[in-house]
Amino acid sequence: MTKKVWGGRFSQETDALVNRFNASIGFDHRLYPYDIEGSIAHCRMLANQGIITDEEATDIVEALGKIKRELDHGEFSFDEDYEDIHGLVEKALVDKVGALGEKLHTGRSRNDQIALDVRLYARDATQGVIDLIKESRRALIRLAEENLDIVMPGYTHLQRAQPVLLAHHLMAYNEMLKRDCERFQESIRRVNIMPLGSAALAGPTFDLDREMVAGELGFDSISQNSMDAVSDRDFVLEFLFNASVLMMHMSRLSEELVIWSSQEFGFIAISDAFCTGSSIMPQKKNPDLPELIRGKTGRVYGHLISLLTTMKGLPLTYNKDMQEDKEALFDSSDTVQICLEVMARLLGEITFKRERLKEATGKGFLVATDLADYLVRKGITFREAHEIVGKMVVFALGQKRELHELALDEMKDFNRQIDEDVYEWLDPMLAPARRNIPGGTGPDMVKKAIEEAKKELGIDD
Ligand code: ARG
Repeated sequence: MTKKVWGGRFSQETDALVNRFNASIGFDHRLYPYDIEGSIAHCRMLANQGIITDEEATDIVEALGKIKRELDHGEFSFDEDYEDIHGLVEKALVDKVGALGEKLHTGRSRNDQIALDVRLYARDATQGVIDLIKESRRALIRLAEENLDIVMPGYTHLQRAQPVLLAHHLMAYNEMLKRDCERFQESIRRVNIMPLGSAALAGPTFDLDREMVAGELGFDSISQNSMDAVSDRDFVLEFLFNASVLMMHMSRLSEELVIWSSQEFGFIAISDAFCTGSSIMPQKKNPDLPELIRGKTGRVYGHLISLLTTMKGLPLTYNKDMQEDKEALFDSSDTVQICLEVMARLLGEITFKRERLKEATGKGFLVATDLADYLVRKGITFREAHEIVGKMVVFALGQKRELHELALDEMKDFNRQIDEDVYEWLDPMLAPARRNIPGGTGPDMVKKAIEEAKKELGIDD
């Protein structure tokens, strides 16, 4: 049985069930690089302040380096007896340097340590997510650029609405992912704050140099209130929120890929390498990857709600409830990162079915708005034009024809102003080019958006 770091006031052995229930080592062991990094910085600072000697610090730092290497090589079993990663590292240190190892905890609490470790983890995870979002953006932009000439139906209410460039549709997701990137980027400012030196809650009685520790660990600033520092998990919640919005965006894109690859839509084919089959139905080719991204969104949302709920009733300062933050953070970070990795690759495995997209754009009166706009140009008010075109649509529907299939005379019965030049307005392939204003689906605008995004992300031709 490992001696507990808090064993002094206890006269009974901890019950085995309590050990099992209480321990976090089973999941917080992945914080070990941060825990050791933080301990090394704390140790150097203790020596600098004359709280321990330089020789003592050298021995401790050397031993911590060894422990790190041993952990890298998987030489520890994460026994529940250690309780958590801080307990394991301290025990390993005392095993190596004896009682000297016990000096390291001077002016420090596990409450400070866990706040530090989770911040360091969140900082790395945030950077990792930012890099991967950029990969997905690159894949989207590449796909948009390769298919710049394709026109497709744009939808509202999942009803065909107006022709748009496929590239415009794809670049809409680039905008979403760009905002996601910015949100993660802006959050780093609130993550990168150094909590050590809170000494459980009230601050230490030793003269610790907190700025020195912050500098060593690459923090921008130190926490301003020791009670807040050990009980704040806003930065974890912010990560979970940012991850949730990002997953929501990826889920929407995934949903489109799922429906586009259905026979009903038939807009895309996903390569065999990125689909799976059925054990019973020999013909099946299923879009499991976008389905899974869509599905995994739920667990990330769940983690956000779960931690918000965990935190809502906690009196200051640290409470053990907060140990529940880590699995939510780790799983969300893992989930978001693998989903981004898959998305970036998946986007490279899509081919668009041009004929089918063209056919879909030509059916369903997608140019009705253009026809109304044409009438406005002839001096009719938009409301009246809307009414006229509505009637023309009903007429064409009855004839099972599209608007461009109506004869000029038939159209003139609805309004005398309609002339031969109307047919150009009824060609869906020409509709996007009429919308060359900033933010619109006009090819010049979409090209410009692609160029700007490429420049921002450093993509060369
Ligand atoms: N395992 C704990 C956690 O994850 C570390 C902090 C424990 N502090 C304490 N006073 N028991 O939150």
